[in-house]
Amino acid sequence: MDDGIDDNKRHAPALRALHLTKRVATGESSLLILSSVSFEVEAGASVAVLGASGSGKTTLLGLLAGLDTPSEGRVEVHGEDIFRLDEDGRAALRQRLIGFVFQSFQLLPALTALENVMLPLELAGRADAREQALPLLARVGLAARIGHYPKQLSGGEQQRVALARAFVTRPKLLMADEPTGNLDAATGSGVIELMFELNREQGTTLVLVTHDEQLARRCSRRLRIAAGELVSDESDAPVRAAGAADAGSGASAVSPA
Ligand SMILES: Nc1ncnc2c1ncn2[C@@H]1O[C@H](COP(=O)(O)OP(=O)(O)OP(=O)(O)O)[C@@H](O)[C@H]1O
Ligand SMILES: [Mg+2]
Repeated sequence: MDDGIDDNKRHAPALRALHLTKRVATGESSLLILSSVSFEVEAGASVAVLGASGSGKTTLLGLLAGLDTPSEGRVEVHGEDIFRLDEDGRAALRQRLIGFVFQSFQLLPALTALENVMLPLELAGRADAREQALPLLARVGLAARIGHYPKQLSGGEQQRVALARAFVTRPKLLMADEPTGNLDAATGSGVIELMFELNREQGTTLVLVTHDEQLARRCSRRLRIAAGELVSDESDAPVRAAGAADAGSGASAVSPA
């Protein structure tokens, strides 16, 4: 099966954070933004990351995707220790496995909505970029805006283009930073449906930073961050077949190395 995952790592969790710590220098002192955060996410799970503004959610997501480097600790994506790769290696792994939606969208200003969504497929050398991108843009309600540039689009419209761009490669792991933050309720729930459809139909693992209670409730697990620490990890009770042996709580909580 060519889904980008090494066969000998197929049983690894989708995501593993081990003692992830991020410090930044601020003049003479240093600021601890993330403090020894550890957790595992099984493939196919949907995880909401919750926490107050400034608690470290975006920092955590950036580290999990290898967009930023930790001061200490480790991240494994489908068994791959991503900080043992160089930057090109991490970029290749992201292209292969990860869809990422930035809090600030980060669309390329010189490309139209359609071109922004086609880009990841074109970078992967795919000839069907347009055929894949068009229906997704329609799904996020932007069929009539495909030729428009980001500056001609509203914040919520740009967010929807960014979502379509993250989905278009059918990633194994979708990380999104407040994916419904700028959307009205109806559009937001359309986007939520789309994400859970990917989760259900393609087994996409979702890691979603959100303040949206509706979205957090739809997730199978909720991680709460406060002042850079993981303070709670709550999973829905797993659905079990009748008579299945009870192998613990089912919550794959913090698992030390
Ligand atoms: N490069 C940096 N230099 C200094 N401080 C930083 C840096 N990056 C992040 N911070 C600080 O780290 C803290 C966590 O930031 P982060 O963006 O992860 O928060 P957040 O939980 O995503 O917040 P929000 O909900 O507002 O998006 C904040 O206090 C922020 O100012
Ligand atoms: Mg943030």
